[in-house]
Amino acid sequence: MTIGDLVNIPMPITLQPTTDFERAAVLLADADEGHERILATVSAPEHTAYLLTTADGMVTGALLMAWEADVGEIIYIAVDAAQRGHGYGRAALESLDAEAMRRGVSVLRVGTGNSSLSNIAFYQKCGYRMESVRRDFFTYITPPLYEDGIALRDMIVFRRDLPPAG
Ligand SMILES: CC(C)(COP(=O)(O)OP(=O)(O)OC[C@H]1O[C@@H](n2cnc3c(N)ncnc32)[C@H](O)[C@@H]1OP(=O)(O)O)[C@@H](O)C(=O)NCCC(=O)NCCS
Repeated sequence: MTIGDLVNIPMPITLQPTTDFERAAVLLADADEGHERILATVSAPEHTAYLLTTADGMVTGALLMAWEADVGEIIYIAVDAAQRGHGYGRAALESLDAEAMRRGVSVLRVGTGNSSLSNIAFYQKCGYRMESVRRDFFTYITPPLYEDGIALRDMIVFRRDLPPAG
């Protein structure tokens, strides 16, 4: 238990870059289907993996980013299942804002499935807005996956515009 738990305020989250891809892939298990697929994505040279670390050193999840000159794309984010709902995901995205601005990146994007209602809620509550729909993005998955009785077919792309640095 942390002080933050006692007063119901989560600690800030530090984005700790990591090359321990196996550890990051395990932490990201709920963000996609299949360990090998996640590990390959985490290990890809165009991606940057982070451990989500509290001020007292607890690793509470992981984040995978693709950084380009002016855009950062969230590939995966996951908070440890036992720690969800305590504000760590929001705190991680707040730290991501700061990291993006440090890099001079002004736009953050993330795609999630049309059936992932919890993620659709999460990103909007954290300041992301719908930008576009990539219809049939997930229809290569056969038979289709279902969440809350909804077939996973389309990707909803969310965007967050950051204030200019300065
Ligand atoms: C998505 C995820 C990272 C959110 O992390 P979290 O620490 O539980 O989120 P937080 O506690 O910081 O919640 C932030 C906000 O989102 C909201 N939220 C989170 N999950 C929600 C849900 N299932 N339904 C509705 N709102 C939700 C919270 O209520 C909170 O809003 P509030 O502050 O206005 O109350 C976490 O649920 C997770 O790891 N999921 C599995 C992996 C995954 O699907 N990742 C995303 C795709 S890559």
